[in-house]
Amino acid sequence: MKILLLGSGGREHAFAWKIVQSPKCSHLFVAPGNPGTAQIATNIPLGVTDFVGLHDFICREAIELVVIGPEEPLVKGLVDYLHVQKGTENIPIVGPSQLGATLEGSKDFSKQFMQRNGVPTAAYATFHANQLEEGLAYLEQQSLPIVLKADGLAAGKGVLICESLEDAKLSLKEMLVDAKFGEASSKVVVEEFLTGIELSLFVATDGVNYKILPEAKDYKRIGEGDTGLNTGGMGAVSPIPFADAAFLTKVEERIVKPTIAGLKKEGIGYKGFLFIGLMNTQGDPYVIEYNVRMGDPETEAVLPRIESDFVDLLVGIAEGDLANYTLKISPKTCTTVVMVSGGYPESYAKGFPIIIPEKTINSVVFHAGTSQDKSGILTNQGGRVLAITGVAATLEEALASTYATVAEITWEKAYFRKDIGQDILRLKK
Ligand code: AMP
Ligand code: GLY
Repeated sequence: MKILLLGSGGREHAFAWKIVQSPKCSHLFVAPGNPGTAQIATNIPLGVTDFVGLHDFICREAIELVVIGPEEPLVKGLVDYLHVQKGTENIPIVGPSQLGATLEGSKDFSKQFMQRNGVPTAAYATFHANQLEEGLAYLEQQSLPIVLKADGLAAGKGVLICESLEDAKLSLKEMLVDAKFGEASSKVVVEEFLTGIELSLFVATDGVNYKILPEAKDYKRIGEGDTGLNTGGMGAVSPIPFADAAFLTKVEERIVKPTIAGLKKEGIGYKGFLFIGLMNTQGDPYVIEYNVRMGDPETEAVLPRIESDFVDLLVGIAEGDLANYTLKISPKTCTTVVMVSGGYPESYAKGFPIIIPEKTINSVVFHAGTSQDKSGILTNQGGRVLAITGVAATLEEALASTYATVAEITWEKAYFRKDIGQDILRLKK
């Protein structure tokens, strides 16, 4: 099978790494890919939103399966586009329709979907740019802290947790009236603050059937002890002990089943991965958000635990045949540490040469933001440069393998968190 994968981050390197391990894959192309995917597949210089270029490439190379990594082409409607173009009408694609992608592209749409389908989530109200007065009055009635979310995509920056009423009122005005996040904040979801422990759950679905992939915990803040600015994610662990069987059963019954049933009932085409951001509030799950793709860096800790054929899973999603797929998950633990450019998530320099060991023990090095020239691998834009995943029987051993590999990798001003997984180790004690 000739497969085309779209994207260029650590998530896509992990997808590529997993796809080429399958005997079902005869050739993998990645658009645009990165120096990590170049080592195991053929990178092609096409952007993920170059709809015309991608369509031409799929026809020219007789691609048999398309796998879409990031949300941007999904929210812009790539799946619908390919399915009406000559030559790609019937191409199997892993990735939801544009309407399905609205679950991530509009927070208001996704909150309404949850309400209609009885999916537990935080109480909320939505305000448009011409409703500032109503919004301010609503804020007066709420308890603190309170969460403000730009409705549209805002590169992971559109969520503000306000500790004081003054801060909330000012932020609401900045978002609605001063367009703090541009068009994305012309609508704002004001939401109750949930307390508890967060986790990420991943569901593969063909729109009717589903398979629940391993859960993971993401470390979002730049600083140790979960301090400092939010990032795209500084590390991940899978599995997580606080997501025990009883909790995961509640998640499946209260969240996964009504979500998939809602997609079907409402005629929302969804063949892809659904990432459910969850809060475990005293043992009860609530949805914080849906994303219409896999998480990054969670993917790097989740995919190595899938033991059944990965291409069969992708084909099952794309062809509506997931019911016949048996998902096999390894009981091992994966820990991922993201190495970033010093200064990230604010400004940072790029172009530093990176030394990566040839051989790693019980660990894999995924490229996220790297480039390559004659001299070797360099740090590139993105800030998150590499994601290192260790795999072992226990969390302690997985962390030891991960950090042993991290210790062998160097470049000027490299930074990583040393405390990934430590909170889980403490909880276990
Ligand atoms: P997002 O950018 O949508 O991933 O949200 C960023 C982060 O804000 C989430 O990962 C949570 O940590 C936090 N967050 C979002 N909504 C809530 C909420 N209702 N209660 C508490 N924390 C939240
Ligand atoms: N790690 C969170 C995300 O991918 O959105």
